[in-house]
Amino acid sequence: MNLKGKILMKKSQKNNQLLNKIILGDALDIIKKIDDDSIDVALTDPPYFLDKLDNNWQFNKVSDQRNRQVIKSLPAGMKFDRNQGINFYNWYLKVAKEIYRVLKPGGFFFSFSSPRLYHRMASAIDDAGLLIKDCFLWVYTQNQAKAMGLDHFIDKMEISQKEKDKLKDKLKDWKTPQIKSVFEPIVMAQKPTDGTFLENMIKNKVGLFNTRVKVGANMFPSNLFIIDGINEIMDKYFLIGKPSKNEKLYFNKHMTVKPLTLCEHLLKLSVFDNNGVVLDPFTGSGTTLLAAKNLKLNYIGIDINKEYIDIANERLNMQSNKLL
Ligand SMILES: C[S@@+](CC[C@H](N)C(=O)[O-])C[C@H]1O[C@@H](n2cnc3c(N)ncnc32)[C@H](O)[C@@H]1O
Repeated sequence: MNLKGKILMKKSQKNNQLLNKIILGDALDIIKKIDDDSIDVALTDPPYFLDKLDNNWQFNKVSDQRNRQVIKSLPAGMKFDRNQGINFYNWYLKVAKEIYRVLKPGGFFFSFSSPRLYHRMASAIDDAGLLIKDCFLWVYTQNQAKAMGLDHFIDKMEISQKEKDKLKDKLKDWKTPQIKSVFEPIVMAQKPTDGTFLENMIKNKVGLFNTRVKVGANMFPSNLFIIDGINEIMDKYFLIGKPSKNEKLYFNKHMTVKPLTLCEHLLKLSVFDNNGVVLDPFTGSGTTLLAAKNLKLNYIGIDINKEYIDIANERLNMQSNKLL
């Protein structure tokens, strides 16, 4: 075997050790162990850098019932800190650079986002060298409104009770500017192809979309997913609900579980190679990996919290996914 062959062999062995596993650790450290140009699709739902849901996400602080109350009384997004977006951008730029490195040429990067910090995510991915191709919208109607009334603050003002009551009455319908959020944008990015789309597909087995994957009333795949019938035209699109308790499974304490159908759909659209490898560096309860497993693809998962890895492994090990 020549030197190049030996190097290639060594490389693939390196990836083999990670294949179909979830590795515990910080994504930025673990990704470094993945070979260059070896991943077909990265599909992930990173921390959005909202209150406590950042790159230091700790299971106990987030999933504990008491702390969930804290999050409820100070809803995510309430702390309108300008640094939040910049910190997120700086961190996600590093993540996206690593994702660029490990993706095969033409490989896709799908990243769930929040409406408020989407611009930072898309810019980080763009600045890392990936091409922003589109934006999927996952639209749903079930969500809690997070806006707050001001009575509590008016009560603390040093004015008479009469003035307080008057002010409360005047502002009774006026709340903090948080609109009820009913969609999640998903960045669709691609590593530049090596040559034309055709040359790249032949060489790297990735880079085109499978348009046989129809949605809704047998329609060409679009960038809109909705869960509730809105009207006759919208109903023709792909309807995807938030995951039910049955889908998440009874032991799943993760707060931000994504729908399995949506993850499967994005993989069906973009993975051509039967031996393809899907990466999720922020695995959580493992929805992306479960989608990859259901489609008989390889995966590599990473999460910083052992508790979520245990949940994800339990989901992956339950062969009764047909029950979902
Ligand atoms: C939004 S959740 C993913 C949820 C997942 N899509 C699901 O369906 O269950 C993000 C995950 O990123 C993990 N995380 C946060 N910071 C991390 C880091 N620096 N490295 C690796 N994982 C991290 C959290 O533990 C959390 O489980």
